[in-house]
Amino acid sequence: MDDTHGSGHGAGGPGERPGPGHPPAGFGNELSSEALPGTLPIGRNSPRRPARGLYAEQLSGSAFTEPRADNRRSWLYRIRPSAAHPPMRRVESGTLFGAPFTDLPPDPNRMRWNPLPDPAPGTDFVRGLWTLGGNGDVRTRSGVAIHLYHADTPMTDRVFCDADGELLLVPERGTLLLRTEFGPLRAAPGHIALIPRGVRFRVELPDGPVRGYVCENHGRPFTLPELGPIGANGLAAPRDFIAPEAAWEEAEGPVEVITKYGGALWTAEWDHTPLDVVAWHGTLVPYVYDLRRFNVLGSISFDHPDPSIFTVLTSPSDTPGLANVDFVVFAPRWLVGEDTFRPPYFHRNVMSEYMGLIEGAYDAKAEGFVPGGGSLHPMMSAHGPDRETFERASAEERGPQKIDDGLAFMFETRWPVTLTEQALNAGHRQRDYDRVWEGLERNFRP
Ligand SMILES: [Fe+2]
Repeated sequence: MDDTHGSGHGAGGPGERPGPGHPPAGFGNELSSEALPGTLPIGRNSPRRPARGLYAEQLSGSAFTEPRADNRRSWLYRIRPSAAHPPMRRVESGTLFGAPFTDLPPDPNRMRWNPLPDPAPGTDFVRGLWTLGGNGDVRTRSGVAIHLYHADTPMTDRVFCDADGELLLVPERGTLLLRTEFGPLRAAPGHIALIPRGVRFRVELPDGPVRGYVCENHGRPFTLPELGPIGANGLAAPRDFIAPEAAWEEAEGPVEVITKYGGALWTAEWDHTPLDVVAWHGTLVPYVYDLRRFNVLGSISFDHPDPSIFTVLTSPSDTPGLANVDFVVFAPRWLVGEDTFRPPYFHRNVMSEYMGLIEGAYDAKAEGFVPGGGSLHPMMSAHGPDRETFERASAEERGPQKIDDGLAFMFETRWPVTLTEQALNAGHRQRDYDRVWEGLERNFRP
């Protein structure tokens, strides 16, 4: 569609160590990048005449007055200001829906799905978004929506922007090349990408078709969890969050800019690309993170810790310790607990849990939970290991055991998840999921 200029070579993959032209990195840092030297103003944000004839624009992801620890904003130096665009008109959103989800009552049943079927040929990332359900309300910036995506076609002459929330992308198949206003980022299976609310981006598919999961966070932006007695290190390290290097595009001619706002899609045809940022600095930036860098902590004596110990990112609520949503990863790790039932225990939870599988298998389910699929365990609905897993794990005491054949994750959210009709009625939903807990024997010996 156009030429990309600048130092952002589209590398920025978190698997690569920063080499010459280190990408900016560090979660929550004040980062900066300029595709042409001498573009960022020094000692101020909004000079009378920014260098190289650019326009300065601030993007605020928090209210101006939020405390420093929560404040997120960036300054963009762009070829034309974002304000220069025509009116937006509402368009069909297909299989993408927005909160509040009111078509169905909240359903207490445990649910499980197989992967989405392949998309219709010609489906790009935006058209391939498929909403499973969610909670809260985009109009009060609360809760989440859970989507899946599948696409076989790159976005061309189309750019997407989600004003309703931050997007946490979890690729399961294929690489996403995210051409953002801040520059390009690559996210492959095993990585996550975080796109702040309001940041515009285009999705290209350098390795062909893609499939994955999306947590659309309407609430407070994701941040790293506090570590408490764990200390200064552990879990996800801030420096492993890689931001893009600035790169601008020169496309003139029509570009469709699609904005998700109030749960619906709105479109406008711009006469130039909005990906025209030559330099930026700030704290509101997209990131990629390699989940294989997650420092997994666990018990070295007995018992299975609560899965909150696997939290990568959390979106806090107004209640201390209660997340709007947590993003949790079940990464390769050793299990060494003595006299301990090692798989996840049976439990009922005030939170609602959506799980997905990026690769391999998950240690609480012997079968039926497959990469690209997902399960939902609603508020207070009992769940845990299936019969086969229970019998295997309780049979005998085992020595140290490495779990290294899978990468699963969870979106754990404070409110019940209400499904869309397409999720409840999907042909790829497993109608017999409850049966995985059938046949758990009565072993009671009074
Ligand atoms: Fe659970």
